[in-house]
Amino acid sequence: MSLKNLLQGAVLMSALAATSLMAAPRELIIDTDPGADDVVALLLAMASPQELKIRAITTVAGNVRLEKTSRNARLAREWGGRADIPVYAGAGRPLVREPIYAANVHGEEGLTGVQVHEPKQGLAKGNAVQYLIDTLDKAEPHSITIAMLGPQTNLALALIQKPEIVNGIKEVVVMGGAHFNGGNITPVAEFNLFADPHAAQVVLASGVKLTYVPLDVTHKVLTSDARLKQLAALNNHASQVVVDILKAYIKFDMEKYGMPGGPVHDASVIAYLLKPELFKGRQIHMTVDSREGPTFGQTVADWYGVLGQPANVMWLEQGDAQGFFDLLSARLALLK
Ligand code: BDR
Ligand code: CA
Repeated sequence: MSLKNLLQGAVLMSALAATSLMAAPRELIIDTDPGADDVVALLLAMASPQELKIRAITTVAGNVRLEKTSRNARLAREWGGRADIPVYAGAGRPLVREPIYAANVHGEEGLTGVQVHEPKQGLAKGNAVQYLIDTLDKAEPHSITIAMLGPQTNLALALIQKPEIVNGIKEVVVMGGAHFNGGNITPVAEFNLFADPHAAQVVLASGVKLTYVPLDVTHKVLTSDARLKQLAALNNHASQVVVDILKAYIKFDMEKYGMPGGPVHDASVIAYLLKPELFKGRQIHMTVDSREGPTFGQTVADWYGVLGQPANVMWLEQGDAQGFFDLLSARLALLK
């Protein structure tokens, strides 16, 4: 190869590298019901502006009532130092079923291990469902990602009112569901799906590109004493908040399931968006059961494709736990 060809190759390589370095951040809406693990997810996302342009945080009733999930989302925004991100409150109850909450896991305030206060900055004007409709309606086709960290009520309501907004969505990444692991609210159902299975069905039926981050994977990405020390060593306010929250939050799951550490469920959704290589899964066919009875809220995940139905979700099943905590540490180090 001539020197000229070598030089041309080198110029091309550096141009390609520059282009990939300058890739525009992903346009993201985070729909959430904070919730201890939701707050960790929000801080991880807010600490990653190079990859994630958070257009808004939308809140929903779930772990606790809407007033408290909305207050906690605003607290997370304050701790993340991201006054630029609007927080819109959305649905105060599920589509059809009676509301359920998880104060036994997340505490009466929806946050364990830390004192809560009324944040200085309020909610954005308007409702989260209308915000989703307006934003997705105006968006470039397939441009906006939605990180779904709670019951899927807000997006379902938006899709019911204006089905064509699905075109604005690039993909939805859901923390929810359970197959190999079994459930955490019934033997077969995971909390977010049990809290509003009808909403999950609406989102699934919309045909949007979906990734599920179920208990199968989040129960493998566990804290340990060493990992909590790793976070504590960052010694800034955000990491202290995360450590305080996690130390209290993990007790419930460790006792209940006899696990050596606790899961940080929702933060895996953000980690997947930042570093998908930390996770493994399969494209599978999945349905959601909303019949009254023992299977209410179950995700029926056809992992082996025995039904011969076309795949409709990416179902994650493996996660690199240390890789996750290294990523979380590296990003929290960037906050105050
Ligand atoms: C999910 O349920 C909620 O309690 C957590 O915030 C998480 O989204 C785990 O089952
Ligand atoms: Ca949640």
